[in-house]
Amino acid sequence: MALSHWYAGVLGACGLLLVGCQSSDFDLQLEQEAEGVTLLQLSSEGGFVLPAIPDDNPLTDAKITLGRYLFYDTRLSGNQTQSCESCHFQELAFTDGKVVPTGSTGDDLVRNSQTLTNVAYNGTYTWWNSIFTSIELQLAIPLTGDTPEELGINDANLTEVLDRFRNDEDYQTLFTDAFPSESDPFTLTNITYALASFTRTMVSDRSPYDNNELSDSARRGETLFFSEELECFHCHNGFNFSSSTITTNTRFPERPFFNTGLYNIDNQGSYPEDNTGKYQVTGDWNDMGAFRPPTLRNIELTAPYMHDGSMETLEEVLEFYADGGRNITSGEYSGDGRDNPYKSSFVSGFDLSDDDKTDLINFLHSLTDQEFISDERFSNPFE
Ligand code: HEC
Ligand code: HEC
Repeated sequence: MALSHWYAGVLGACGLLLVGCQSSDFDLQLEQEAEGVTLLQLSSEGGFVLPAIPDDNPLTDAKITLGRYLFYDTRLSGNQTQSCESCHFQELAFTDGKVVPTGSTGDDLVRNSQTLTNVAYNGTYTWWNSIFTSIELQLAIPLTGDTPEELGINDANLTEVLDRFRNDEDYQTLFTDAFPSESDPFTLTNITYALASFTRTMVSDRSPYDNNELSDSARRGETLFFSEELECFHCHNGFNFSSSTITTNTRFPERPFFNTGLYNIDNQGSYPEDNTGKYQVTGDWNDMGAFRPPTLRNIELTAPYMHDGSMETLEEVLEFYADGGRNITSGEYSGDGRDNPYKSSFVSGFDLSDDDKTDLINFLHSLTDQEFISDERFSNPFE
């Protein structure tokens, strides 16, 4: 199918699965905040409110559509071998299933690929960085970062990369529609704006949990999750199960980071040198090993877990919390994370029976949103 045909199809596809074209309270809000946008859709079941959208990058369907093409296009990398999708697959809730990914020029990354589930609602971006407060700011890293290189756009190849789109007839339409008032819309800033707009629409709010379809076991797991004994909800809270959730209604944004006791090298409190969390930004020892609590939505699909992919299964994660941290007994990272002096007091350990474990896992699995991973709005437009 020709690109232009696809484009019309995508814009016309409003309301197939969702409430996008019906009138509801959410739609009213949507009209006020993002006038005319049909590609950002909130389900009437989920109880989500609109994410905050930056003033300098208002959401439009044309920008979202351009972003979708760019996300899946390997021409966006310097050597044309990778796209955003290379590390963010829709069927894995936009993660890649690896411990850590490899960039387009062969550099290994040091952190696990993050889910893009409900990414619009995050108060900060990446596992560790407390300064990236918008997707727009964060995207400079995969696009142009060089330590390590991801897509590998740099001063030497930028003109060539932009020309690939400037000289493509379908992209001429997409860019002009997305940025109608600009005589030369083929800029890295506009690429960033379009990609941010597209990822901002990746809302996951149609899981069994949202639809109130929990099994008895999952219900028991929910009770455990929200108990003072397990404490999970202190850090994974609100509709996105993360403590750094920002919406249009947020007046006092909170952006907490926590050390959960994964490491305690030589029992001095430190984490591996290339992964010290928020400490990397502030140099403050109180921030050693402090990471942003990730959303737990679609967690069933996003193994391996933690910022460095160092846990393979949800069972392992639950045992780690029950132990109150991770004791590493040999190797370069040896040390007892349970005694990390910078660990949050919410991670203090608890008793966990096999039945409890099953119930908790069933609860976490109830956050899996099959419609999200098969939603055509987020899929590869070239296929
Ligand atoms: C080579 C693999 C790779 C590529 C290519 C890549 N990413 Fe990522 N992405 C990651 C990793 C790893 C992280 C976590 C980064 C960190 O914590 O430092 C991440 C984080 C993110 C985040 C932050 C998520 C959050 O919750 O804070 C966004 C948004 C994102 N990527 C979008 C994109 C987009 C859009 C592209 C294409 C321009 C892209 N990524 C290309 C691997 C990749
Ligand atoms: C003190 C705050 C805190 C508490 C309490 C807490 N978490 Fe976490 N959780 C985090 C942080 C921070 C991370 C990321 C840590 C890292 O990568 O270093 C995380 C990571 C996870 C992950 C892996 C996420 C991923 O995408 O890889 C799962 C699953 C998880 N937590 C579930 C739970 C459950 C279940 C409980 C209760 C038993 C719980 N958490 C309690 C803060 C917390």
